[in-house]
Amino acid sequence: MLVLGIETSCDETGVAIYDTCHGLLGHALYSQTEMHGEYGGVVPELASRDHIRRVLPLIRQTLAAARLELHDLDAIAYTQGPGLAGALLVGASIAVSLGFALEIPALGVHHLEGHLLSPLLSDPAPDFPFVALLVSGGHTQLMQVDGLGSYTLLGETVDDAAGEAFDKTAKLLGLGYPGGPALSKLADQFAQSGWPRRFDLPRPMLHSGDLNFSFSGLKTAVLTLVKKQEMTPQTQAALAFAFQEAVTDVLSEKAVAALSRTGLTRLVVAGGVGANRSLRTALLQKATKMGARVFFPELQFCTDNGAMIAFAGAMRLQSLDFARQKLNNGFTVHSRWDLEMQGVPSAIPKI
Ligand code: KG4
Ligand code: ZN
Repeated sequence: MLVLGIETSCDETGVAIYDTCHGLLGHALYSQTEMHGEYGGVVPELASRDHIRRVLPLIRQTLAAARLELHDLDAIAYTQGPGLAGALLVGASIAVSLGFALEIPALGVHHLEGHLLSPLLSDPAPDFPFVALLVSGGHTQLMQVDGLGSYTLLGETVDDAAGEAFDKTAKLLGLGYPGGPALSKLADQFAQSGWPRRFDLPRPMLHSGDLNFSFSGLKTAVLTLVKKQEMTPQTQAALAFAFQEAVTDVLSEKAVAALSRTGLTRLVVAGGVGANRSLRTALLQKATKMGARVFFPELQFCTDNGAMIAFAGAMRLQSLDFARQKLNNGFTVHSRWDLEMQGVPSAIPKI
């Protein structure tokens, strides 16, 4: 089955084609970060308009690179939520219109399910069940994943998401938007520089006894220090390092606590912050020490992309009675959407 995936939930237009027999046949991404950078954050209206400009050329480009035509497709999967309503509507309307014209199903996919399943695009892929640490710009959650659609929330952030905290702290340090990767780069340079550590930031909720997180206090702690210091490049790097170290400690400790609590031995890390090198290293060290394995998506599939949506859609479509799929003539998007509400499809697919 050939599935076209379309992702337009925020500031990246992602398109991909997943073949249930041969895997990923192609993918393309257009990032709007440069455009939003001018405004210091995502401007929803500009995001929607840009998705409109990009999505059809990206579909044509991906099909051509895979030597395929539109009529070769068997189904279309699109991000139905959560995300920016206008941006989601672009992907949804194009997917459903194409599905209608080609007389193939168009299936709405949960964005976080896409992230959660993205490590399954790699080899070796984790088997179910596993614990998933979802760390993106909008979400920070620990999930127990027993199978496709069987998701139990173990803990989540009570305020800012990890990626949001990276971005806001980067802004405080004058690193522009989106600051997560820039802050991480600076922190890594500091770690390699041999300069002495200068700041020790709090580890919020590390000993809370549950699997929840809080990151907004950390950002405030950085703000207090920024106000007191003269901001030299060395101070900036020392603060970036202290922030990254604190976030890494809390995320990795809670992730291994989730493994202990559930008795599971596989940890999957997904979402944009999953690209962070310090976090990857800490998770590998701590999980390996307790005899567990960690699975990461490829770096290019940590942040938003079409491949994860094509893949999640293919898994769901395979588990349904494909022949009886109804054509989707109408659609709706969900800017807020609880992943646990997804539900289990009728059978677990083999891919
Ligand atoms: O998953 P994603 O692309 O979008 C959402 O679904 O939210 O995640 C984007 C987030 C941003 O906050 C970005 O700053 C952060 O992931 N991010 C990173 C790194 N790469 C991306 N944060 C820390 N270190 C990184 N290397
Ligand atoms: Zn995302």
